Amino acid sequence: MIKLERVTKIYPDGTEAVKEVSLEVKEGEFCVLLGPSGCGKTTTMKMINRLIPITRGKIYIDGVDNTEVDEDELRRNIGYAIQEIGLFPHMTVGRNIETVSVLKGWPKAKRKRRAEELLELVGMAPGEFTDKYPSELSGGQRQRVGVARALGADPPILLMDEPFGAIDPITRVRLQDEFLKIQQEIKKTIIFVTHDIYEAIKMGNKIALMDEGRLVQYDTPANLLYKPNNKFVEDFVGADRALKALQLIRVKEVICSSPSIAKADDRAIAAKERMEQEGINHLVVVSDDGKFLGWIDKAELGRGEIVRETMKSSAPTATVDTVLNEALSLMLSSGLDTLAVVDGDNRLQGVLSFGTIQKALSEIAQRGESE
Ligand SMILES: Nc1ncnc2c1ncn2[C@@H]1O[C@H](COP(=O)(O)OP(=O)(O)O)[C@@H](O)[C@H]1O
Ligand SMILES: [Mg+2]
Repeated sequence: MIKLERVTKIYPDGTEAVKEVSLEVKEGEFCVLLGPSGCGKTTTMKMINRLIPITRGKIYIDGVDNTEVDEDELRRNIGYAIQEIGLFPHMTVGRNIETVSVLKGWPKAKRKRRAEELLELVGMAPGEFTDKYPSELSGGQRQRVGVARALGADPPILLMDEPFGAIDPITRVRLQDEFLKIQQEIKKTIIFVTHDIYEAIKMGNKIALMDEGRLVQYDTPANLLYKPNNKFVEDFVGADRALKALQLIRVKEVICSSPSIAKADDRAIAAKERMEQEGINHLVVVSDDGKFLGWIDKAELGRGEIVRETMKSSAPTATVDTVLNEALSLMLSSGLDTLAVVDGDNRLQGVLSFGTIQKALSEIAQRGESE
């Protein structure tokens, strides 16, 4: 789908920004360009849609040399999302999203329908947001609009340059998760730039790690972590690679989906007996319609007659798509050794225990050593 052959960029001032980079991204793959600031990620990306002219080497898109395609045509077929500066401030959200479909000459009704579809896709109600201006949105909302705009005319390829870089960490995690979910539906071929190794491991099927303009390793996230090509990769990955590898596993892969539960109106003494029988310290509490209410702690059960009176109700939750690394940090912040997993309506899907995460960690480490 996208093939770089010994791509080199020397800027007019003599800076050698990209040196002989060769790599191939297959259809539907999510390739992350990773590396420290100044290593040539943005330059590499911008040569693909020719925002920056190439000095030497070739870039093929679907087998066609990209310098032989009309520049505007090329850009219409490659979605491009960057940090929030990308939105046109004087245009409404709807108009921003329609940018490329206007260029493509789509009729107005089709453009409007597509813009509404895309707003829905990125989780923003069209009725509420179509006529707003970028300045009326939060950073996270602007970023969502940026992604919607990049998808505007349904391009097969998406280039994304640190698209979630300027967002607070919590919103960032949410946008990453949402985007991965969207990608499962749209299956674009994606090149995504980041300097954040956690983000790279979480998002990519393949990671291209760059250093000073060179491609150092192009590999799966697991191989990058456990089979580093050289000292630079090893240092970049760092000592806590097991923690980073937790980004590779999602809650749904390790969830206990039929946990013991208590109801808020159960008698506390009965709940305590159950926990003793099962050898657990915490029991998850749900409402009659299956919604997550909170946790009870065996040690504190003497305090009330019924479960509701001793329940800890402000616990964090994960979803089945949360990565284990984030699940672990939620768990640590709650002070419990277990985490409730819920769906969009707060209905309990299962629970995740600290022991499960430990087990996953040791399995990853073994996998890394045996490969
Ligand atoms: N227009 C330019 N003229 C000269 N040097 C540039 C220009 N743009 C970027 N560079 C240099 O090229 C190198 C790679 O930059 P860039 O691709 O932006 O890196 P990254 O995106 O990995 O941070 C850096 O040394 C940067 O200073
Ligand atoms: Mg950059």
